[in-house]
Amino acid sequence: MLIVSACRQDTPASQEQQPPLMMGKTTPTNNPSGEPLTLPKTGTGNFENLVADFERKDRGIWQKPDMVISLLGNLEGKTVADIGAGTGYFTFRMVPTAKKVIGIDIDQRFIQFMDSVKVRMPEVYRKRFETRLAKPDNPLLAPGEADAVVIVNTYGYIEHRVQYFKTVWKGMSPGAKMLIIDFKKNNLPIGPPDEFKVALSQVEQELVGAGFKIDKVDRESLDYQYIIIASKPTLSQ
Ligand SMILES: C[S@@+](CC[C@H](N)C(=O)[O-])C[C@H]1O[C@@H](n2cnc3c(N)ncnc32)[C@H](O)[C@@H]1O
Repeated sequence: MLIVSACRQDTPASQEQQPPLMMGKTTPTNNPSGEPLTLPKTGTGNFENLVADFERKDRGIWQKPDMVISLLGNLEGKTVADIGAGTGYFTFRMVPTAKKVIGIDIDQRFIQFMDSVKVRMPEVYRKRFETRLAKPDNPLLAPGEADAVVIVNTYGYIEHRVQYFKTVWKGMSPGAKMLIIDFKKNNLPIGPPDEFKVALSQVEQELVGAGFKIDKVDRESLDYQYIIIASKPTLSQ
């Protein structure tokens, strides 16, 4: 709570009325092109509203974070990068098992938020967790650094995605897995309006274009979201 109210001072008054962008409804637009629109940057939203939205209590019920993370297999000994980590809703859940977890975001406010959680973590976990302020076109992973990548409710914010995911690819070790979760279309009660959503088929196409292999596509386990597991092929594949 202290963290949230401390951050409130940074929010310009003109941005106070913005609705939550992720699970809350953004305003539908008139979009005749049919192409998905890039989501408005969370950096323009009121921070306290965003935190409340990302940490909303019903989220565990419809997003099943522990089940979703288990799809990455055993994380012991692995370095995991959560790209677009936000408040660390998924990020922090992986710290007890992974060798290292990197919470990556382009919004300094979320980096500060995660760092403020980190200082309260037991030392053994603190040593395994770091934040990284990235660039919109580059998550700033070192070559081969990540053995697993997680991208939740963030895909639609990323621009020029084939190029972006070629960069992510370089930051992954051979055989590394990437988990992407985002909202299904169909005017569901949770998530942004349909014109901001990226269709599952488009995600698959873009990932293949960036060099990934699609291992698994799951439209059923979550009511409002699809899950994709893709991997960077090993050298022999
Ligand atoms: C809707 S939030 C999701 C946060 C978190 N993954 C979750 O599920 O709670 C999207 C996050 O992606 C971040 N973001 C947007 N564009 C990004 C980019 N190009 N690279 C990394 N993070 C980005 C935003 O700052 C925001 O924290």
